[in-house]
Amino acid sequence: MAEHTFLRGPKDWWRQAVVYQIYPRSYADQNGDGIGDLKGITSRVPYLKELGVDAVWLSPFYPSELADGGYDVADYRNIDPRIGTLEEFDVMLETLHANGIRVFVDVVPNHSSDQHEWFQAALKAAPGSPERDRYIFRDGKGENGEIRPSELVSHFGPTAWTRITEPDGTPGQWYMHLFAKEQPDFNWDNQEVRDDFIKTMRFWSDRGVDGYRIDVAHALVKDLKNGHLPERQSYDVSVMKDDGTDDLFDRDEVHEIYASWRQVYNEYDPPRVAVAEAWVHANRRAAYASEKGLGQSFSFDLLGTPWNSKKFHDTIDYNLKASSKTGSSTTWVFSNHDVIRHATRFGLSDEINKNLPKWFRSADRESQINFKQGLERARAATMLILALPGSTYLYQGEELGLHEPLNIPSDQMQDPQWFRSEGSISRDGCRVPMPWTSTGSSFGFGPGGAHLPQPDWFKDVNVEKQDGVKGSTLEMYRDALRIRKDLVCEEKLTWVKHWLNSNVLHFKRPNGWQSITNFGTKPIKLPKGQVQISSQPLVDGKIAPNTTVWLQS
Ligand code: GLC
Ligand code: CA
Repeated sequence: MAEHTFLRGPKDWWRQAVVYQIYPRSYADQNGDGIGDLKGITSRVPYLKELGVDAVWLSPFYPSELADGGYDVADYRNIDPRIGTLEEFDVMLETLHANGIRVFVDVVPNHSSDQHEWFQAALKAAPGSPERDRYIFRDGKGENGEIRPSELVSHFGPTAWTRITEPDGTPGQWYMHLFAKEQPDFNWDNQEVRDDFIKTMRFWSDRGVDGYRIDVAHALVKDLKNGHLPERQSYDVSVMKDDGTDDLFDRDEVHEIYASWRQVYNEYDPPRVAVAEAWVHANRRAAYASEKGLGQSFSFDLLGTPWNSKKFHDTIDYNLKASSKTGSSTTWVFSNHDVIRHATRFGLSDEINKNLPKWFRSADRESQINFKQGLERARAATMLILALPGSTYLYQGEELGLHEPLNIPSDQMQDPQWFRSEGSISRDGCRVPMPWTSTGSSFGFGPGGAHLPQPDWFKDVNVEKQDGVKGSTLEMYRDALRIRKDLVCEEKLTWVKHWLNSNVLHFKRPNGWQSITNFGTKPIKLPKGQVQISSQPLVDGKIAPNTTVWLQS
């Protein structure tokens, strides 16, 4: 086994880190089977180093039936043989660490795969057995238990209950799954479940993993006392209670679990860190971000913020104030493996952005995208968040300015959300394998094909095409991350008011680093200071529309 490597350094390294999300199946395929693998990631470490990211976050690489792209985990302390081995994981980690890049792994504690040995044991055991108690099994209603135990929808639609066949062949109990039926929810009132996740945290922390991204962190504890079962028709945050007593999500008790994980994290040097994926009311994020808990929580507020300087200002201001109260640092995100790529979102009108599933299902969806505007705004928006206090989470491919591939025929789609819900979009587009080269099978993703079809236009938008090309999105990201390293300073900002132009968003960091974004349609005057970088070329010395410029005064 390769030596476990620990990357030491200041314990607050994460506060203003740039974290790059890798979707392992779609990053780089070393053996040509069409599925990205750990050796592929290792081979791209020079690329990551040149890009200048501080850390990578790997979406799940655990053994999985891929009912939900790997978020259905069959074994939390192993690697899917199609993706690699634990030894290859160690080599990857060592290589990343040797290049100063830290590693987050994704932990999925709300549910396992139905192939997990515990769920398989539960199916074989009797109702009421300790094996069944690790999940949420209930008898159905009706004379023969044929009616589902409660009216609870699944996030992917339609119902969150599936009936099993008992070992003797008779129709049996039902189990709860907030996501696909292949993702049974754990019962977090069960001590064995709690102990097992502590074991998982130690397992990866001992191997040198620096941080964790916690999947649906707000869902673990449900109110199941005295025969109660939650009922819900929508997962919209607006229908969730915001006082810790909702019977399904964001219950106060969930923080006992995170406090116990925090104790484990603090046994390490530097302490391991974690970021919660918690879709909760904004005022409730603090508890996840607390230093007694996971330490940081995603803010997804910018995902829904239209291209408007005031709206951006208000979202940013709110998040900075909220994080200053928790003592954590805030997070900024525009893209990840669950959403339409932001270059495409910014190319759609505000109206369309309010109802993306409707757009996604329309026949002429491509003609509704303003590709040029989308890319310009995406570049400007990314430069804007990179200048803010806090940490930025980037998603593979956004550094190429990738638009959402929309060419996937429905019979090649893999996303359970697409199959289970008619009112939804498929998340497969943003998971299409990375284009590294202009030619070759799968555009350099690997020597074989790609597990999702890549669009033809990848021949024009890929790493090879942009590498070393001035003005390319890749070079803009590289420059911005390099310049940012020198400029990052105390986590504060001051807004600079532009009374005569409400389309400008301008702020200053304590060391004189300034960021100005032109949200309007006319060029604006460049304020005093030395230009460090601009997301689009200046026009007659002025800042073009849809552009962010960094200045140093
Ligand atoms: C999170 C993941 C998403 C997954 C779901 C269920 O939201 O980001 O990809 O489908 O959890 O695990
Ligand atoms: Ca492979």
